[in-house]
Amino acid sequence: MKILITGVAGFIGSNLAKHLLKRGHSVVGIDNLNYGFLRNIEFAKNDSKFKFILGDIANPHILTDIPADIIVHLASQKIPRYTNALRTLDENYLMLRNVVEKCRFDKTKILFASTSDVYGKNPNIPFNENSDLVMGPTTVKRWAYALSKMYGEQYIIANKDEYGLKYTIARFFGSYGPHQNLTWWGGPQSVFIEKAFKNEAIEVHGDGTQTRTFTYVDDTVGALVSCIENEKSDNEIFNTGSKSGGEIAIKDLAVMIWRLVNGEGSQPKINFIPYTTFGNYEDVMRRVPDISKLKTVLNFEPQWELEEGLKLTIEWQKQFMTK
Ligand SMILES: NC(=O)c1ccc[n+]([C@@H]2O[C@H](COP(=O)([O-])OP(=O)(O)OC[C@H]3O[C@@H](n4cnc5c(N)ncnc54)[C@H](O)[C@@H]3O)[C@@H](O)[C@H]2O)c1
Repeated sequence: MKILITGVAGFIGSNLAKHLLKRGHSVVGIDNLNYGFLRNIEFAKNDSKFKFILGDIANPHILTDIPADIIVHLASQKIPRYTNALRTLDENYLMLRNVVEKCRFDKTKILFASTSDVYGKNPNIPFNENSDLVMGPTTVKRWAYALSKMYGEQYIIANKDEYGLKYTIARFFGSYGPHQNLTWWGGPQSVFIEKAFKNEAIEVHGDGTQTRTFTYVDDTVGALVSCIENEKSDNEIFNTGSKSGGEIAIKDLAVMIWRLVNGEGSQPKINFIPYTTFGNYEDVMRRVPDISKLKTVLNFEPQWELEEGLKLTIEWQKQFMTK
């Protein structure tokens, strides 16, 4: 297949490109390198089945002449923890509109990257794909991200109803692994690893009892490959998660990472940062996916446990710590 990936130089995009090329597909990837890195796609630079285009998906002309059997739309702004919500709302909409218009025009399927954050404050775990999506007040800007993804999902499904657009929506739960962004943009695990390497206190937001589930990137990407190759994914939404649920409190994640980096016997240094530091902020206290749909419809079984995945991630991240 010919696969177009938006956000190819980012974390998930570059890992996905690697898997797809290995499976014999052709990949065209676009990225404006705002949050991605050429080093992430270095492995493909001499591969005749790979083409990289430097460009902004918010520009409607960038996609015009690229033939594809499917577009995997990963490029995105994320939770505006330190930046502004306007950019998240504007850019995520503009990019999606351009991708959907191209898909409609070319009759190409879209595979859209959504997020566990759309389940928001729903207290009923585990979340399945029909669970309620519960947002906080609009005065709290962190919800701008989840809202932009919910809007994206609705926009895609409305386009299916009106114009027959073919889609799959994948809701990712905390993906981590090689090529992850080394700042908070990439999630807590990468900054925790860096602090542990430097023997500096890991900063945990709130009291650290909030839980997340983390998915090793090979499992996230494996689920995406199933969505691309298996027609049973057409016009469906899937949670993508890890092997055994993998729910862990953030303070326990900090301890696990500290010990994987510095040895079992070492005493973790942790600083608890109050949420008030981020202004009007709300956190999600528990986040656990039900991934039975992914298993039964697409026959996909995640393979990785958190500790094994973290060991490989730490090994990869080590190269940036010694420079
Ligand atoms: N990583 C996770 O755990 C996670 C969890 C839930 C959802 N997601 C979603 O998965 C997708 C990929 O996430 P990621 O972690 O790989 O993010 P990432 O930031 O590493 O990758 C996204 C890429 O998109 C590029 N990009 C952003 N805006 C662009 C634009 N206007 N034009 C061209 N390129 C642009 C960035 O430069 C970056 O390389 C995103 O849609 C994200 O919302 C990720």
